[in-house]
Amino acid sequence: MPRVLVFDSGVGGLSVSACIRQRLPFVEQVYVADNAGFPYGDQPESVVTLRCQRLISEALQVFPCDVIVVACNTASTVVLPDLRSMTSIPVVGVVPAVKPAAACSQNRRIGILATPATIRRPYLEELIREFAADCQVERIGQPELVRWIEDSVAGQELPQSLLCEALQPFRAAGVDTVVLGCTHYPLIREQLQACLPEVRFWVDSGDAIARRTEWLLGQQDKTTIPSAAVLDYPVRAALFSGEIPSGLRRYMEESGLAPDEIRGHWPGDEGVTTAGSA
Ligand code: DGL
Repeated sequence: MPRVLVFDSGVGGLSVSACIRQRLPFVEQVYVADNAGFPYGDQPESVVTLRCQRLISEALQVFPCDVIVVACNTASTVVLPDLRSMTSIPVVGVVPAVKPAAACSQNRRIGILATPATIRRPYLEELIREFAADCQVERIGQPELVRWIEDSVAGQELPQSLLCEALQPFRAAGVDTVVLGCTHYPLIREQLQACLPEVRFWVDSGDAIARRTEWLLGQQDKTTIPSAAVLDYPVRAALFSGEIPSGLRRYMEESGLAPDEIRGHWPGDEGVTTAGSA
């Protein structure tokens, strides 16, 4: 059975896992979250690189995989070359969907919502220069948003009025298209849309990553599984380097990502829970 490793600093990568599940329901996933190092936006680049490499190689030893998906924009900006030199398994990274956004926008005004680290990195400027040179681009690097989303997955209420306030620069700029440049954001797409109902297109990279993953599995002859082979438990294991977020099992089940097993404080051997708990 084909198996894909999905990595993020927290629960945001689950938005990518859901797209992979949708497109490739016969593929087993291993979800790895470095929530002990979260948020990556606050970490030096060298720390992000070392942590990703370590956790991914530990996970691969226990759960061999056919494709690695770095489902984190902030990590993808720095870790991909080192990761690719560490393993021969194909690695897919995620970049903010500037190109598809430029293709959608009718008024040529685009908003990019991302972590402050992603907003700062030169590669975003390169994407804008390459694909959206004729657009007016408004950038918002909201520092608290990823934490609010982690908390909301754990059952806390999202501070909707603060969220709407943070998005005001997009309204002022009159953007018709917003790029969700962090994998956490699609998890609160409805709340974002409620703040800016006038925005016509909300674009993220989840489907593109799922398509790329399918292609890479196809290169290994691993997509010729009967389409009826839909897994009830598509996530073989969810491995968290810190505490297991409260309510995670329920959240994953409701998102169609029921896990066989969830482990916390991983790869230490404390806090291991199996199906039915957490
Ligand atoms: N999901 C990560 C991203 O796409 C969150 C970033 C962080 O940990 O700061 O960028």
